[in-house]
Amino acid sequence: MEQFRKIGILFVCLGNICRSPAAEGVMRSIIEREGCSEWFDVDSAGTYGGHAGELPDPRMRSAASRRGYNLTHRSRKIQEEDFERFDMIVVMDDMNYENVHRLAPSRKVAEKIFRMTEFCRKFPERSYVPDPYYEGHEGFELVLDMLEDGCEEVFNELKNQFRS
Ligand code: 4NP
Repeated sequence: MEQFRKIGILFVCLGNICRSPAAEGVMRSIIEREGCSEWFDVDSAGTYGGHAGELPDPRMRSAASRRGYNLTHRSRKIQEEDFERFDMIVVMDDMNYENVHRLAPSRKVAEKIFRMTEFCRKFPERSYVPDPYYEGHEGFELVLDMLEDGCEEVFNELKNQFRS
């Protein structure tokens, strides 16, 4: 029987085949490195369900794999129940924010929604994680750079909450 409730983090983008599954992979890797996988429930979802069931985009899988992340998530659309399961919902851009906000069952629950760029320390000029879908190779590398930066800070903030 589970003795404690895990800390739930859901990453959300549009298609759930590029940015958010990569964020999930980066976050899992940090949590594993820190030896606390059993405390966390990490997942990702999209606001658009058109890629449901698909693995991440091959360009993102290969860029991630070169950094040591094996992305095996299957795309799914965000659901209202996700607001119960997860403590933090981290979105990539303004459109994601608006769409997720619209789905939130209450104002209180909407306080769980954060932008990934709020946690990025190395990219102070960026207000969103750009969609790499129609970009070249550099677009995927930039996304991974931003996610690695932001996820470290998400982890640090949660770790501090644990201690307080
Ligand atoms: P993502 O990228 O939101 O980072 O997964 C996209 C993937 C697919 C589409 C748009 C963005 N699409 O329009 O199919």
